[in-house]
Amino acid sequence: MFAKEVYISRRKELKKNVKPGVIVFTGNGDTPMNYTDNTYLFRQDSTFLYYFGLDFPGLTAIIDIDEDKEIIFGYDFTMADIIWMGPQDTLKEKAAEAGIFLTDETSAFEAYLKQASQAGRAIHYLPQYRLENKVRLAKTLEMDIDYIDKNISNALMKAVIKQRSLKEVNEIKEIEKAIDITYEMHTYAMKNTKPGMIESERSGMVEGISLAHGSRLSFPVIFSIHGETLHNHYHTNIMESGRLVVHDAGAETSMHYAGDITRTFAVSGTFSNRQKEIYEVVLKTQLTAIEALKPGILFKDVHLLAAETIAGGLKELGIMKGNIKEAVSEGAHALFFPHGLGHMMGLDVHDMEGLDENYVGYDETVQRSKQFGLAYLRLAKELKPNYVITVEPGIYFIPQLIEQWKKEEKHGNFINYDALENYLDFGGVRIEDDILITESSHRILGKPIPKTIDEIESIM
Ligand code: GLY
Ligand code: MN
Ligand code: MN
Repeated sequence: MFAKEVYISRRKELKKNVKPGVIVFTGNGDTPMNYTDNTYLFRQDSTFLYYFGLDFPGLTAIIDIDEDKEIIFGYDFTMADIIWMGPQDTLKEKAAEAGIFLTDETSAFEAYLKQASQAGRAIHYLPQYRLENKVRLAKTLEMDIDYIDKNISNALMKAVIKQRSLKEVNEIKEIEKAIDITYEMHTYAMKNTKPGMIESERSGMVEGISLAHGSRLSFPVIFSIHGETLHNHYHTNIMESGRLVVHDAGAETSMHYAGDITRTFAVSGTFSNRQKEIYEVVLKTQLTAIEALKPGILFKDVHLLAAETIAGGLKELGIMKGNIKEAVSEGAHALFFPHGLGHMMGLDVHDMEGLDENYVGYDETVQRSKQFGLAYLRLAKELKPNYVITVEPGIYFIPQLIEQWKKEEKHGNFINYDALENYLDFGGVRIEDDILITESSHRILGKPIPKTIDEIESIM
């Protein structure tokens, strides 16, 4: 945890922005995997961590703005629990670390909230992505469960997003810790991948590196010779010489700050000419996009700049044709680059996506496009100092998508379908780094991980 003053000051700021009423923070519980006591790895809710830092299951918090009270609800462990779990801090001790001195039993939460709701006071809560928490709120507020989503507090959500978007110095240090571990995961994979291995032989070790650091993964490892599948979590292929591996992985520190890096390398350690050509287009795109980052620019414009760089590069290789700006404005490049350029990163790898991506990445001035590809852009709005974001362009040859577009003769004026016949077995290339937006520019976070073809071939 950070010092308690950090949490006290974050809550103080929040209280200024949300009033009047009662704010509810639903912490996460343990979730059974195959029977009650065999649970999934516990993960606290990130907003709960942000305001309270308490990384234990079964906690709920209330900030009563009108009565200026902050309460943590939970339970103390009995001797029977302690026999199985070892010594535990009391609820009071835990809450004190977050600068909170009022605690009560779990069941008192329902009574408190019910009373506030029946008195007609405003109840503020965030989007609920866990069914248990939804059911609990619905029961307490005597509301149909489907209604829970409709009563989310926009004021609270906007206030939380505003705060969590601007990373504090102590948070940036944690993110850099995560990226330092991520550096080891990526350099290990490059140094130790050999033709004939099964992907899981390496993806498992990559995960182990993060665990050995007392850390964990910020999302399941993507490590695949089928990099054309964007989020490929299957690791059963044999890595044959001649293939590329897309390795997208990140550690999450013990305080739950994420890293998220992608590198693409040749299984054999040496890129073929065809692989080099595509790789250089993605690398140029990533460097061009990073270079453009500064406060005040719309991330959507950086995404479009990346799309134009990709389309321009593919035109030079004879895969695309025609006017590049027109091709991008009509969305033809999305056959090869069907996802967004990046996202915010922090306590969640896709930071705050559980709140509402349309509030995190968009605002009154930038609305989400409906165009294929651009519609997946998670972050479009103007960048501000202290945002931490990813920049992750890619080029993918997805045989099924190519086949469908070809059949429909889609964007035939911009895509050279004949040339594509030679790329159906290519796979994909993605390159991703994590970037801090500074007062006037940007800084790539963490130690540089081999990225140019020379750097990758030499470490391998
Ligand atoms: N690792 C998922 C992503 O890059 O967004
Ligand atoms: Mn990633
Ligand atoms: Mn990412």
